[in-house]
Amino acid sequence: MSVQKRDVKVVTTHQLHNMKERGEKISMLTAYDYSMATILDAAGVDVLLVGDSASNVMAGHETTLPITLDQMIYHASSVVRGTKRAFVVVDMPFGSYQGNSSEALRSAIRIMKESGAHGVKLEGGAEIKDSIVRILSAGVPVMGHLGLTPQSIYKFGTYTVRAKEEAEAQKLIEDAQLLQELGCFAIVLEKIPSELAKKVAESLNIPIIGIGAGPHVDGQVLVVHDMLGINKEFKPRFLRRYADLHAIMTEAVQHYVQDVKSKDFPNESEAY
Ligand code: KIV
Repeated sequence: MSVQKRDVKVVTTHQLHNMKERGEKISMLTAYDYSMATILDAAGVDVLLVGDSASNVMAGHETTLPITLDQMIYHASSVVRGTKRAFVVVDMPFGSYQGNSSEALRSAIRIMKESGAHGVKLEGGAEIKDSIVRILSAGVPVMGHLGLTPQSIYKFGTYTVRAKEEAEAQKLIEDAQLLQELGCFAIVLEKIPSELAKKVAESLNIPIIGIGAGPHVDGQVLVVHDMLGINKEFKPRFLRRYADLHAIMTEAVQHYVQDVKSKDFPNESEAY
């Protein structure tokens, strides 16, 4: 007997493809834990990305490089438990897929088996072709990621806009085309010129999700801690803040501390 766990109409790769076809923009946000996932999922976000940005915003590392496969699986399984509708994609962390395609397949299978997620995301184009082919051949949906790829930060040296020069733009177009031909179901384009992102989105059938890639793509993704204003320091031009949770949380916690110190909390109705 099969067990029906997700009782709402779930988002699938097929639906994401249809959304592009009918011009409906795809909303995607990062999520790293159960409580946040329940909020984002109920609010209607189409795709939840368990990003390796967890390394920055959850663990406080300077880059995404230190996060491990075990840690990504822990975050991903928490997000999956909080999700009823959204499609959950998990970043394959640095070092879990670049070595060779067998290692990549093993890592992807661990993510899918141990977290219950619906797909994986890998950074790069032609150079990781074999890994993508191997993972796809096991029936695991793959999302690509081109442009600014944070796992290569020590190669780039900076987090500035990528593919402004003709040669890099041309390589990005060819990589995007290759990812579609291989069978990736979508591609994230990070921090590239708007016109280049538009060209890629218009020339491919699969959804193109942008972050700092302008409005002419098929969907948008942001890091949830940035758009909710939990992080105060990170202020790139592409970021729109929808709340100032840093201020709201600070005020609430200060209020709590004050109530404890003044013996106002707990009062009689808050005690047994
Ligand atoms: O890890 C992440 O949060 C990402 C997004 C920036 C797309 O890859």
